[in-house]
Amino acid sequence: MNRFDEAAKSWDSKPSSVAIAKTSVDNINEIIDVKDNFKILDYGCGTGLIAFGLSNAHHEVVGMDYSIGMVEKFNEKAAQLNYKNVKAIQHNINEEDLPKNEFDLIATSMTLHHILDTNMFIRKCKESLKVGGYLCINDLVTEDGTFHKKHNNDGVEHFGFDIAELSQIIENHGFDIIEARVIHNDFRNDRDYPIFQIIAKLTTKNLIAIFGNPVAHSKSPQMQNAGLKHINFDAKYIKHHLENGETIKDVFNQNEYIGANIIRYFEFNFVIL
Ligand SMILES: C[S@@+](CC[C@H](N)C(=O)[O-])C[C@H]1O[C@@H](n2cnc3c(N)ncnc32)[C@H](O)[C@@H]1O
Repeated sequence: MNRFDEAAKSWDSKPSSVAIAKTSVDNINEIIDVKDNFKILDYGCGTGLIAFGLSNAHHEVVGMDYSIGMVEKFNEKAAQLNYKNVKAIQHNINEEDLPKNEFDLIATSMTLHHILDTNMFIRKCKESLKVGGYLCINDLVTEDGTFHKKHNNDGVEHFGFDIAELSQIIENHGFDIIEARVIHNDFRNDRDYPIFQIIAKLTTKNLIAIFGNPVAHSKSPQMQNAGLKHINFDAKYIKHHLENGETIKDVFNQNEYIGANIIRYFEFNFVIL
């Protein structure tokens, strides 16, 4: 039994969880046109504060959580509301994959800091979203380890996240960041803990990895005029730029290959290995 099984019993009476979820749902609805035919996943759903907040009579909503106590509470609520289109299942992201190309929107609220491998989580979400789908993550902004001091940080893998760093990880997986900002402050231990939300749209699944040497691209009109057929970019050179937060487009622009026929590169995203 993990601590969330016990916590499930009184989760919905925790003003802090309810307030964070409400702000998150309001923000999602403000930014995204959540269409009736959307299939939605609430990952680390708990009792479904996000799932029930987002659902209406039409949306199919799945909650996933590794705590059986949370899953049971979620399904009790769905039964009480007679929501046939909303259900939760037990699932541990550390051990299982998600269904492929299934969801239009994945939301996760205050769960990412419990998952050690952030990259793995984003990758599995990407695989599970349809192209054009949305990933909505809320969590703690980097904190000093006091947020969960009541629980001695039991099950806490990250003391929050740097918004820019997490946004970059998400972008590297093929998402466009639509919004990344603090949406709420949670007051406890006599201080505020800022909570961010990142809303990202999956623009492509055609990720390619850069390794080896060289990377070539086809010619620009300027290069053609200069009699050049193609240029080679050293993969390490591009990797260095990407790690500095630049895009492939920036790298080409800095090298004055503006207007080059590099459309293929814009369609792809590069994974930093
Ligand atoms: C702080 S609670 C948030 C619950 C809910 N999203 C909310 O906002 O009320 C974190 C949830 O993540 C779940 N969780 C933690 N690690 C998980 C994992 N590896 N796989 C699936 N669920 C996990 C916990 O069981 C818990 O319900």
